[in-house]
Formats: sequence, C-alpha cells, structure tokens
Amino acid sequence: MIMLKNLFKKPEHKVDFENLPQHIGIIMDGNGRWAKKRGLPRSSGHAAGAKTFERIVEDAGNIGIKIVTVYAFSTENWSRPKEEVNALMALLEDYLDHGLERLSNRDVKIHFIGDMSAFSDEFQKKLCHMEKTTYNNSGLLLNVALNYGGRNEITNAVRIIAEKVKDGELSCSDITEETISEHLYTSGQADPDLIIRPSGEYRLSNFLLWQSAYSEFWYSNCLWPDFTKEDLLKSISDFQKRNRRFGGV
Ligand code: IPE
Ligand code: IPE
Ligand code: MG
Repeated sequence: MIMLKNLFKKPEHKVDFENLPQHIGIIMDGNGRWAKKRGLPRSSGHAAGAKTFERIVEDAGNIGIKIVTVYAFSTENWSRPKEEVNALMALLEDYLDHGLERLSNRDVKIHFIGDMSAFSDEFQKKLCHMEKTTYNNSGLLLNVALNYGGRNEITNAVRIIAEKVKDGELSCSDITEETISEHLYTSGQADPDLIIRPSGEYRLSNFLLWQSAYSEFWYSNCLWPDFTKEDLLKSISDFQKRNRRFGGV
C-alpha cells in the first residue's frame, strides 16, 4: 500500500538548501487567463492570485529564501479598464488592512518599491504603517512592486543623482554603477539571482531592468493562481543546475 502511494507521489525536486538563490523575483502573471478559463471575471483571477501570493511568501520564507520581490502592479497596468484597476486596488487595500498579522507571524519584513506618489495620502499612510511595523522582522525581506516600472525607477535615480550634482554633494566623475544601484528602490539589497515568470510569457515587462543584468530566468506555462510550492522548488532546483559565468569562462 505504501509503495503504491509512493508510485503516485509527485517527484520531489532536488534542492540544495545550502546554496539557495538569495533573491528571487516573481512576475505574478496569468490571473486574467486563469479567470477566463473558468468563465469568471478577471477580478476573481486577481483574488485567486492574491491567495497564491500569500502562500508563496510563506513557502519562500520556510525554504529559507532571504529576499523575494513580487511584481504586483506595473506603471503600465493603469491602462487597464477602470473596473479592473479598482478591483486590484481594493485587493491591495484589503491586504494593507488585514495582512499585517500574518506578515509578523511569519517574521516577514515588507518593503514597497515603485512610485508611491500616485496613491492617495491615506493609502500611502497604510503602506508606511505596514513597512514600519514589520521593519524589525528578521525573516524574509519581501519587496512588493507597486506602480513599479524599471524605467521609471532608473529615471527617478538619475533625477536624484542630478540634484546631488547640482547641489555640489557629488561630482559627475564620482558617479559609478554603485551610485545608480544605491539610488534604486532596492538600494542595499543583493540583485535577484532568479526571476520567475509563470503564464507562458517570455518577457520582463519592465521588471527590475537594472537589477536583472545577471539574473537567471525561469519560465512556466502555469498561471499564477495555480503556482505551487512544487513549482517554486522546481525553479530553484533548475536554477542550481545553471552555470552562471558573469562574463567569465
Ligand atoms: C497579473 O495577471 C496581474 C497583474 C498584472 C496585476 P494579469 O492580469 O496580467 O493576467 P493575464 O496576463 O491577463 O492572464
Ligand atoms: C506584468 O504583467 C506586470 C505584473 C505582473 C504586475 P503584465 O500582464 O502587465 O505584462 P504584459 O502586458 O503581459 O507584458
Ligand atoms: Mg498579464
């Protein structure tokens, strides 16, 4: 009986827990298609995607990943129908209102990356409150990309650096790659080792443009609401088989 059970057990992916990717980026894509397949409104897909987000954050923390960056809303996503944008914002607000305890129970420190000035003062206060309350948590660092665009992030960094040059705080010749990195929303963090994109799309869609210079990419046809811990382990296991050369031999 036990042998029969083992026969049908899903294969375990061999993961070397001593050599985990430090930072994983996830493009949480495919919510709309997941809903369409079921004859549901796109907002139901986003609600299902939000549940997967919570599950995967917990799994990543348990696996021992140090940093996870999830792409939740891009600078381009404002172009979607108003109804859909409102549904996404309502889900976010619900998370801000009710997600704090779960984050603290899991020792997760949250950090929002993106241009927050697009949101109302009240919404921004909630974002700050969540960041401040989880600031001393020492488990997983979770970056949530909201109104995030890689080009917007680099433009913003250039603007801040230019201001510093203008004010005499910095000279042009002192600007290095590190200067740029230090002025991004992910300042002080390791670059993503692995970027995961489900839903069968093979593009970055403006996600972590600067930081992904040497990231390993992992794609899957699975739609985000269906993404499981097994998929995460498979991506890590595949990542560990890659030969990262960073331009060397
Ligand atoms: C990702 O799912 C969620 C956001 C972009 C906010 P999509 O809504 O892009 O789902 P598809 O790609 O249409 O299936
Ligand atoms: C990327 O997905 C943005 C997020 C997952 C938040 P999109 O669905 O917006 O990207 P495209 O339009 O397929 O490139
Ligand atoms: Mg999409």
